Amino acid sequence: MTNGKLKIICVCGARPNFMKIAPIVDALRGRDDVETILVHTGQHYDRAMSQLFFEELGIPEPDVNLEVGSGSHAVQTGLIMQRFEPICMAHKPDWLIVVGDVNSTIACAMVAVKLGIKVAHVEAGLRSFDRTMPEEINRLLTDSISDLLFVSEPSGVENLCREGIANEKVHLVGNVMIDTLLRSKERASESNILDSLGVSSGGYVVVTLHRPSNVDDPNTFASILNALKIISDELPVVFPIHPRSRANLSTLDLDGVSKSTNFMMIDPLGYLDFLKLTMDASMVLTDSGGIQEETTILGVPCLTLRENTERPITLAEGTNRLTDCTTDAILQAYREIRASPPSGKTPALWDGHTAGRIIQILVGSS
Ligand code: UD1
Repeated sequence: MTNGKLKIICVCGARPNFMKIAPIVDALRGRDDVETILVHTGQHYDRAMSQLFFEELGIPEPDVNLEVGSGSHAVQTGLIMQRFEPICMAHKPDWLIVVGDVNSTIACAMVAVKLGIKVAHVEAGLRSFDRTMPEEINRLLTDSISDLLFVSEPSGVENLCREGIANEKVHLVGNVMIDTLLRSKERASESNILDSLGVSSGGYVVVTLHRPSNVDDPNTFASILNALKIISDELPVVFPIHPRSRANLSTLDLDGVSKSTNFMMIDPLGYLDFLKLTMDASMVLTDSGGIQEETTILGVPCLTLRENTERPITLAEGTNRLTDCTTDAILQAYREIRASPPSGKTPALWDGHTAGRIIQILVGSS
């Protein structure tokens, strides 16, 4: 503590981190008993993958940008650690707050814990039980070294308890990503993205794909694209393409797909345009984690192109369904959802006030 103030470093690095850190930084900056330092690792760096989110979500300019960029897992994680350590040593914070499950999350948590800095992990406890997913490794490791674990759904509490994490470290607080969604809905509804794409409310499908298991394997990626092409004969398909997927597309034969005007492959969108596109979609097909949660809150059917999810509440209470990634399985699930769209309910504590609960607990326990 300096000048009686608690010093907290908040870290973000990749696209899904930005909507999670935004309400936390907002809640912290509203307090005069806390000094906040925002560190961007630079894991994502394209304007559309990073800066645009800061602008739209009103996140203050980071105090430090580590500018690590892309690389293999070891290179990226190692570089973040090397560049984050001197920042911690210079600032000597009382707490580090990390969010989600990306390489920036585990890299910074590992640096802090070895310097004796307490670590709070937001979105702790989620488990896909699939250790081939890099994020699952990041989740397991970050949770095992964190001092406070803030959990978004009851499965997370059960998982942490089973892994032997002490009860008093674990707090079920709800979902910070939903704080941002609820705050942004009104502004998103003013987006003119539907007009610019020439689609009408309720009359199109949105697709996002970026998991290595789906887009790094050419056969799997081709089977998914084949299903999407068939769907686009029925309803327009809008596919904002993640840079990883864009790079892999160049290895595929896209003849059938690229000739279809109903299959719109576009650049990544900002938060508000994408939220509007999701809100008004007939269905979302995705392999993202966060989008499974956002569609649950918005009541939009979601078909998740994965064998598992670390967010089982979206299946039990929300609008989410899983599918294998063969063309036939995707089409069958798509048709079943079209015939009988799921109706979901809002999970407990996904009420827009999660960041406030987190900061109250964190400051109270310091
Ligand atoms: C990362 C996260 C993943 C998260 C996803 C959201 C890890 C292990 N993975 O995956 O959990 O769901 O972000 O997007 O942390 N690239 C650009 N511009 C950028 C960023 C990346 O062109 O601003 C390209 C680079 O070619 C890079 C590739 O995308 O090699 C992958 O980026 P990387 O950060 O390694 O992983 P993601 O697939 O984005």
